[in-house]
Amino acid sequence: MRALLLAALVAASLVPVPAAASASPSLAEAAQRTGRYFGTAVTAGKLADPVYAGILDREFDVVTPENEMKLDATQPQQGRFVFTAADRIVDHALQRGKRVRGHTLLWHSGQPGWLNNLGGTALRAAMLDHVTQVVAHYRGRVHSWDVVNEAFADGTTGRRRDSNFQRTGDDWIEAAFRAARAADPGATLCYNDYNVENRAHAKTQAVLRMVRDFRARGVPIDCVGVQSHFAGGNPVPADFEATLRDFAALGVDVQLTELDVEGAGATQAQGFRRVAQACLAVPRCTGITVWGIRDTDSWRASGTPLLFDGAGDPKPAYHAVLHALHCGRTG
Ligand code: G3I
Repeated sequence: MRALLLAALVAASLVPVPAAASASPSLAEAAQRTGRYFGTAVTAGKLADPVYAGILDREFDVVTPENEMKLDATQPQQGRFVFTAADRIVDHALQRGKRVRGHTLLWHSGQPGWLNNLGGTALRAAMLDHVTQVVAHYRGRVHSWDVVNEAFADGTTGRRRDSNFQRTGDDWIEAAFRAARAADPGATLCYNDYNVENRAHAKTQAVLRMVRDFRARGVPIDCVGVQSHFAGGNPVPADFEATLRDFAALGVDVQLTELDVEGAGATQAQGFRRVAQACLAVPRCTGITVWGIRDTDSWRASGTPLLFDGAGDPKPAYHAVLHALHCGRTG
């Protein structure tokens, strides 16, 4: 009698069934059925939080250290490499059969002070040594690397971003990719950037030109990371799928590397749904990573941009993504 009563209450949605207990697949399971992954950015200091780690372990099969592999974290002083925090994330992932995206080897931001004292050939040497040492440390344990992050300027110029690395010569990016390939031939090497989601934008066209050139000259690039940070003022563009197709047509994989959609409710859910559907429509879109687990974990928490609320409960956007992945499988 009690079981019947409970079943009736659940059916009437009077007794919530926790996500963990539900029969529905996780985000990762649903993505895997389409041949893709579903990952998240992870912060080492939150792995001891049972709610955080519980969602991570249940829902995601790829992790990206949010900050622990950046230049200031891994080489705080020249010649002193520190991998403790990043290793915690990598070990947590690999022990649970998850894969790791390395983020990021070279970036104009998040640099340690000692780099500011270098220029020219000394900086170029230090830059390539950093790539070599960090990639070698994770050889065979990092599936994809964001080798270079955000090297193109915003706006309409289509030019490179001015940075210390750029000032060592235009060829710094290809030199970094060659160094990464030499240090771990098995890793997928990605160029990662934001505001490359709209094919009409000059920055998108500039990255397409670079990837086309690299592929033509045999520069070892395997993937483009499309960060996919969306908000009210920067919605998912109508031609988002076409942009992904343009990158894939160059012979590289596309990875959505930092997805978040500021907003709430049905509007936010629709944004996430459109992103998932665009990735599912492009065979070489190999996976999606959201940039954090709970809204409160986000770099822009006030925009509540993620799939789980601050309490760790799934939001309408979570269910929209899961449904899109399921529909994508059944085609
Ligand atoms: O760990 C220190 C802490 O000890 C200190 O008390 C605190 C206050 O100064 O700072 C903490 O470090 C902060 C770190 O996040 C960890 O919370 C840094 O100041 C802060 O700058 C850093 O912000 C990160 C940002 O990149 C800059 O590295 C965000 O968490 C991270 O989500 C964001 O992610 C970037 C991607 O790497 C590249 N694409 C854009 C994306 C969003 O900006």
